[in-house]
Amino acid sequence: MDPEYLTGIDEIDDQHKEIEEVAAALIEAIEAKDKWHIVHYIVVRLYELLRFHFTVEEALMRITGFPELDAHKRVHQEMLQTIERMKSVTLDPNLGNDSEIIRKQFSFVAHIVDHDKRLADFLVSNVTHLKR
Ligand SMILES: [Fe+2]
Ligand SMILES: [Fe+2]
Repeated sequence: MDPEYLTGIDEIDDQHKEIEEVAAALIEAIEAKDKWHIVHYIVVRLYELLRFHFTVEEALMRITGFPELDAHKRVHQEMLQTIERMKSVTLDPNLGNDSEIIRKQFSFVAHIVDHDKRLADFLVSNVTHLKR
């Protein structure tokens, strides 16, 4: 994982690592044109991980007084909505026939952790005992 996204909070950093791994597995499954149920299972796993992770992150932002809480929460909501859509799309047994469209829809998955850069910077500079 790119060190600039580390928050210094082990729970968050570990969750990010796992999310990145599952996101990479999802992209691989798409590229390999795996069967719909394999792709769908990974999407469901990603959704569950994110739902839990976003709840933790939002509580942390409130506790630490992160000034961009509302905007950050909106990004979370949009991501969950997109992945909800992906859950339905991947229920189609003909998945893979339109691999370009699918690849486009899934392209943001590789960047799921990127939006946390400002939060990571805030935590590292405002919560004094945290270190990268
Ligand atoms: Fe995050
Ligand atoms: Fe986030």
